[in-house]
Amino acid sequence: MQPCAMGNGPYDYTRRENPTRDTLEHLLAKLDKADRAFCFTSGTAALVAVSHLVGPGMEIVAGNDLYGGSYQLLTKVFPERGIVVTQVNTSDLEEVASAIRSQTKLVWLESSTNPLQKISDIRV
Ligand SMILES: Cc1ncc(COP(=O)(O)O)c(C=O)c1O
Repeated sequence: MQPCAMGNGPYDYTRRENPTRDTLEHLLAKLDKADRAFCFTSGTAALVAVSHLVGPGMEIVAGNDLYGGSYQLLTKVFPERGIVVTQVNTSDLEEVASAIRSQTKLVWLESSTNPLQKISDIRV
């Protein structure tokens, strides 16, 4: 027998599945021509979720002009977990490309950058 909380479809508890968030994620993915988009209630929650995509021995190529919380994660938290972070100017695509190696699992950037407001040319 199904537990009671699972018997009423995916929207029985708004923090788990939520039709408004589903619609927003669907529309954002469509705008970015992406397979999926994920929405979070705070930027920091999103950063922490992304941080779980990488593990020891993996590498991140990151922008060198980022939100301070990202900078702290990339320069203090990730190296302690055995993750190598290389920071580059993400407005310079050749610099980004030359930093990507076989161990690189994630390119972490902001566009526009923060605080310098430089644009990284992300192909959609
Ligand atoms: C790029 C970026 N990521 C994450 C955050 C953190 O967002 P929050 O304050 O919602 O946790 C900020 C906040 O300014 C931000 O600019």
